[in-house]
Parts: sequence; structure tokens; C-alpha cells
Amino acid sequence: MQKNLQEAKNAKNDEFYTQYDYIQREINAYLEFDQDAFRGKTVLLPCNDLEHSNFTGFFAQNFEYFGLKKLISTSYAKNSNKQFTFQFYASELEKNSPKYDPAKTDTNGKIFILDRAANGTHRLDIHDLKWDYLQGDGDFRSPEVKALRDEADIIITNPPFSLFREFLSWIIEADKKFLIIGNINCITYKEVFPLIKDNKIWLGASGSNRDVVFEVPEDYEVSPSDRAKAEKLGYFGNYTTQRNTCWFTNLDHGRRHEPLILMNMADNMKFNKTIVKQGKKYFKYDNYDAIDVPVTQAIPSDYDGVMGVPVSFLDKYCPEQFEILGLTSGRNEFDKEAWPTKRYENALQHNSDGTTASGSKANTRATILLEDEPTGVYYTADNADGPFQIMYARILIRWKQPPEQRI
Ligand SMILES: C[S@@+](CC[C@H](N)C(=O)[O-])C[C@H]1O[C@@H](n2cnc3c(N)ncnc32)[C@H](O)[C@@H]1O
Repeated sequence: MQKNLQEAKNAKNDEFYTQYDYIQREINAYLEFDQDAFRGKTVLLPCNDLEHSNFTGFFAQNFEYFGLKKLISTSYAKNSNKQFTFQFYASELEKNSPKYDPAKTDTNGKIFILDRAANGTHRLDIHDLKWDYLQGDGDFRSPEVKALRDEADIIITNPPFSLFREFLSWIIEADKKFLIIGNINCITYKEVFPLIKDNKIWLGASGSNRDVVFEVPEDYEVSPSDRAKAEKLGYFGNYTTQRNTCWFTNLDHGRRHEPLILMNMADNMKFNKTIVKQGKKYFKYDNYDAIDVPVTQAIPSDYDGVMGVPVSFLDKYCPEQFEILGLTSGRNEFDKEAWPTKRYENALQHNSDGTTASGSKANTRATILLEDEPTGVYYTADNADGPFQIMYARILIRWKQPPEQRI
């Protein structure tokens, strides 16, 4: 039941439509880093209808400025998309065109193309977009969209949230450049984390620690607080906001080469509020050979061992500064320093109401032995030296820069 609810929720998030300024801000970061980032490239925007998606319009309008060779955008058929509840689907472009076919409008995907070679020498813009029906429904896994993927140099979109893993694997298997939107927690997926660890993919420039606005279908229940946040950001109507949203990419940008400026351990114990609050000390994990760093800013500049940091560290991750060793997922697939040092036997989760449940999570997270009497949820195990708590997912890192180069 819980799983069905979660699946329904994920599928609903498949209908989150990205706003223009969120796309613009991110794309600007790649252009600032390399003004020819998109020059001469064929860009594919899958999962984008022209009516509600801003990706197609944004890239068509900037076709000349970016120096694109070709822009291809594809949309997914209304009838294939069980979640699709936007009321008016056929765009004005489609309905006013002689190509408009009522028999195909709901069953076929569409393709929109702007092509330098096909359009001659005049300045191309959104009005030059040519469209047609796809033969199939526009599923990104279909042979015809796969062929477009293979033709493209760069793939950019906000893919359906429930198919994020599959979508990323679809890009990676074709060895393409890409920029896609997802949730920062996707970094813990086994299809994603090894790529992050090996610096084959990374987070975009915008950061995950802000409210991002999305347009949603009319029947989507937006919570009053999300609605209020969207309104505060200037979006009135069917809009929601989402935290922890970020871009995933393998295009380079300047943000990831900016090192963090950090204090040493002694200064953190004096000045970092979180470290002060937890007793002016860093805790050592019970099941990993590493210390816990509860906030990125508290990474000590003079600690050369392994450190566990929250996943939001990746917003600030500079590969010249730190090395990523692993994730506290309990899997023994990473470097030796990132392996758990023990597996708990007969682990039990103790709930606040006095009940107990399986404590299997103790073997998929970093843990800290409790110093005081337990309050709230805690864990025990036959081979633990006392009650312990489990941490949120932690990334295990180590300094890469030698001490004399650290700021
Ligand atoms: C999160 S929405 C984002 C839409 C648009 N890219 C944007 O950012 O505004 C994901 C889109 O993917 C489409 N979609 C869902 N499943 C798909 C599939 N299997 N293949 C292609 N598109 C799909 C949905 O119809 C939806 O329009």
C-alpha cells in the first residue's frame, strides 16, 4: 500500500513543468564557462510538449545566440501518459496547421525541429520550428526517439521523475552529453552514485538548496505552503515549489571548480553553530572508519581521514579539492575506506511508542553510539556496544588537496 502510494506520488511528479528562468539561469552557467558550449551542436529535448514545456521555446529563441546546428524536441502522446491531466493538449501551432490530424493528436508523440542546414541563412527563431507527428507515442525508449538520441550531441530535459534511473541509463548507454533535472536524493541510486564518485557526472550550477517552481496540472493538489512559496516567487495559479531539485550533467561549469573555504577543526568547535550545539565535537561512526560532519561548512580543513557529509555537499563539491570514496549504503562496492567496518547482528529499531521493528536500516547507514539515555527512535544490535542512532545518507569524502594548498 505504502509502495503504491509512493508510486502514485512519483507518477504525479512526472507532470511537473519547468519554468523558463530556471532553465535560463542554468544554461547561462555553461555559457559563462565556455561561450561555445552549444555551438555547432545538435540538441535533443525529449519529453517536451510545446504547449506546457519551456525547454523548446527557450532553445528555439536562443538558437542563433547559442550557435546551434539543430534543435530537436519530442513530446509524449496524451493517451500513453496516464497521468496527463492538462486540459488543452493540442497546441495552437498544431491545431492551426494543415497537418493537424484528430486521429493522431492524442495517440502520437510529436517532433519539433529547427535546422540550420534545412532553413538556409536567415536568422532562425521559434517561428521556424517545423513539427510533425511521430510514428509512435514519443516514449523515449522507442526506436524512433532512440535514433534521435543517437543523432544528438547533447540531451536536455526534465524527464519523468518516476523514470529518472531509466532515463539517465538511456543517456549513459549512448555516451552523450546531457543536462537533466532530478531530485538530489537520486544520487544515492546505484545507477547514479558510481558515476558521481568517478566524476563522470555531477550536479549542475544552480544548487539544490532552494525552492524551484513548477507548473502542475489543475487537479494536482498543491499544499497551501507550496502555493504560498510559488506566489512569493511571482507564480500565481497552478504552480508548486519543490526543494532538493537539481540539475545532473556531464557538461562542465565554473561552479564546480570553486573550492570551499573552510576552518580547521579547533575553530569549527568554537565557531560552527552545529558543532557547538552537538557538544563542541565531531562524532566518530560506530560502523565506518570516519567522522560525521553534519553540515558541509563544518568540514575541518586539517582532518586527513575519511569524513561523512550530507548529500547536499555535492552542491559544493569541487573535484580538485575532495575525493569521493563512497556512500554509507552498506554496500561493499567502494574503496576500502568506505566499507562498513561491521555488520550489525539482530539489529532492532526501537520506536518512540515502545514498539520494535526490524533494524535492517542499521546496515545501510552510518551509525553513532549514543552517549546519553536514548530518546526517540534508536537502535540496538547483539554486537553493538550500546544503543545507537542511524544517520541520513552520508557521502564519504577525503581531502585531495595537500594541506599547504588548502584555503
Ligand atoms: C516532469 S515532466 C517535464 C516536462 C518538460 N520536460 C518540462 O520540464 O517542462 C515529464 C514529461 O515526460 C513525459 N513522459 C512521461 N513518460 C514518458 C516516456 N516514457 N517517454 C517520454 N516522455 C514521457 C510526461 O508526459 C511529461 O510531459
